[in-house]
Amino acid sequence: MVKIAPSMLSADFLHLGRDVETVNANADLFHLDIMDGTFVPNISYGFPVVEAVARAATLPMDAHLMIVHPEKYVERFAKAGVRMLSFHYEAAGNPLDIISLIRDNGMVPGIAVNPDVPVEVLFPYIGECGYMVLMSVFAGFGGQKFIETTYGRVKELRAEILRQGAECTIEVDGGVSPANSKALEEAGADILVAGSAVFRAADPAAVIRAMKSGLS
Ligand code: DX5
Ligand code: ZN
Repeated sequence: MVKIAPSMLSADFLHLGRDVETVNANADLFHLDIMDGTFVPNISYGFPVVEAVARAATLPMDAHLMIVHPEKYVERFAKAGVRMLSFHYEAAGNPLDIISLIRDNGMVPGIAVNPDVPVEVLFPYIGECGYMVLMSVFAGFGGQKFIETTYGRVKELRAEILRQGAECTIEVDGGVSPANSKALEEAGADILVAGSAVFRAADPAAVIRAMKSGLS
């Protein structure tokens, strides 16, 4: 069954504890979007929020770094209790060095790519990473429209992971909702990130359940 990682970017920060409990009770992971205003035009939140989520989270935290020089902050995210840490290929000097640093800090490494980056750039790192993040919107903002070419990209990456016999899983991030979750799972996605579809809903738990069960 596909795993659901609600993006806390769309949470209500005045009621963060309530939204963390909703995720604890219904989802599989916490997705934490870190934006620096340089790699992407937007600024999200930093360590005080990550550490607050960590105090209440009973599920693993997956942080998505949309920042330049991701290597500078790897240790801090480990100390904050993050379990899975992804950085952008487009922002990385030497991906293998960052992957090793993430592993050495006891976390699972992942590489994220925007929708205009060929999936093939990830192939040399499949054996080294725990997961790959295929962006289905351009990184930077929640609430954008899902880009349909993502299905083909998931299939292509899934086929290569199988060909290599690797353990790497596929996370899809951006514009995910019950309207496309089943097709993404069928294409080969293992983890679905959803922000606005979950937290803008009248019943976030029902939306998470719908995506897990493949109902739309
Ligand atoms: C976009 C972020 C996403 C975003 C998802 O840059 O990486 O994780 O918060 O939000 P929705 O589901 O609203 O597209
Ligand atoms: Zn994200």
